Amino acid sequence: MRWKVAILTASDKGSRGEREDTSAQVIRELVEEELGGSIVDYRIVPDEQDEIMAALIEMTGYYEADLVLTTGGTGLGPRDITPEATLKVIEREVPGISETMRSSTMSRTRRAMLSRGVSGIRGRTLIINLPGNPKGVHECLMAVIDQLPHALAIVSGREGEHGA
Ligand code: MTE
Repeated sequence: MRWKVAILTASDKGSRGEREDTSAQVIRELVEEELGGSIVDYRIVPDEQDEIMAALIEMTGYYEADLVLTTGGTGLGPRDITPEATLKVIEREVPGISETMRSSTMSRTRRAMLSRGVSGIRGRTLIINLPGNPKGVHECLMAVIDQLPHALAIVSGREGEHGA
């Protein structure tokens, strides 16, 4: 069975239709080609904590996604609120995923240190924040994608912790 993956873009401009969402397209390609996943839900919301939280709750609850990948809203701007919204809906953090995305991509761009993205578990779903630009999305997702099948197998309950 393929992994069920949802994509959430947090972007004021994107939600108003003022910017093409190429970052979500990058995620879709990597999920389908590198992870063997299927996109079960995709939406764009403005950088509003309540709207991000509501989308994450629906993606994990109603759509039963194994993995939710968010893009955008992780920086230092006054409207960047994705990490805070994510922390409010997860039960446990998985800091190593976000640490790896920052540290292993620092050699490409030192701006990597400016993403405050978090990762964590809500129920049987893994949620990972990615930065907003398509290059950052590609670099960060590729930095951890090899470990996602094992992580998803455990979080989704498809395998015992020592199974894979
Ligand atoms: N990480 C990687 N690997 N590559 C990038 O290009 N962009 C950075 C950073 N993380 C980037 C990256 C930049 S420029 C910013 S402002 C922050 O992510 C936050 O981006 P966001 O607010 O769009 O989420």
